[in-house]
Amino acid sequence: MAAKAMACPNCEGHDAFVDAYLDTERLALRRFTADDADLLIELDSDPAVMRYLTGGEPTAPKDVRERDLPSILAGYKRWGGDFGLFAAQDKDRGAFVGWFILRPEQGGSLDEVELGYRLRQAEWGKGYATEGSRALLSKAFTELGVRLVWGATMSVNEGSRKVMEKVGMTVTDTLDTPPDMQTIEGSEHGGVRYEISKEQWGQH
Ligand SMILES: CC(C)(COP(=O)(O)OP(=O)(O)OC[C@H]1O[C@@H](n2cnc3c(N)ncnc32)[C@H](O)[C@@H]1OP(=O)(O)O)[C@@H](O)C(=O)NCCC(=O)NCCS
Repeated sequence: MAAKAMACPNCEGHDAFVDAYLDTERLALRRFTADDADLLIELDSDPAVMRYLTGGEPTAPKDVRERDLPSILAGYKRWGGDFGLFAAQDKDRGAFVGWFILRPEQGGSLDEVELGYRLRQAEWGKGYATEGSRALLSKAFTELGVRLVWGATMSVNEGSRKVMEKVGMTVTDTLDTPPDMQTIEGSEHGGVRYEISKEQWGQH
């Protein structure tokens, strides 16, 4: 694991450290810690953020604390800190912007990984999802031995689709809506899978 200590911009006055993963022009991505439940709870409490994930339902704080965060932390152990879910902070403001995913399927091959993102509504429309995704593709293909990156979204999630298209991913399949997402607005249109191979990325 190539972990590096970095002063936490949110923690003036005391010497908190965060576990850095990746820097972009404006964003610092880091691994989550056991103290980050409130960031995840606040993010998932916005119905606009959750619109195409749960139909707007927030994630129960108990589920974040007892299921999601422990699973994120277990992922760092499983993949040596190379893959997982990463918190993104704006480097100038120190504000939590949201998170990005770069991770294999559990038990799946390490050279085929999923890209994903979930940002706070206040941070939408600033190019952050595109910037973070571009940097993650670069890291995946040049440092982590990845051969293929894929992402999936509801067909009607235009923002998410646009991000994947901007970073060079293309639609490779249509997807049925899973049973637990059938009541979400637009679910009748199903989902789409996007992919980009290392070779395609090199030519993009
Ligand atoms: C989808 C999401 C990550 C986009 O983040 P973002 O930082 O606003 O995206 P960017 O600013 O990088 O925008 C990339 C492009 O998508 C466009 N876009 C962003 N949101 C859009 C929307 N809701 N509808 C249409 N286009 C949209 C932008 O205009 C931009 O295109 P442009 O450069 O041609 O103008 C963000 O809206 C989000 O977190 N949504 C909630 C969670 C979610 O749905 N995650 C994806 C689950 S699969």
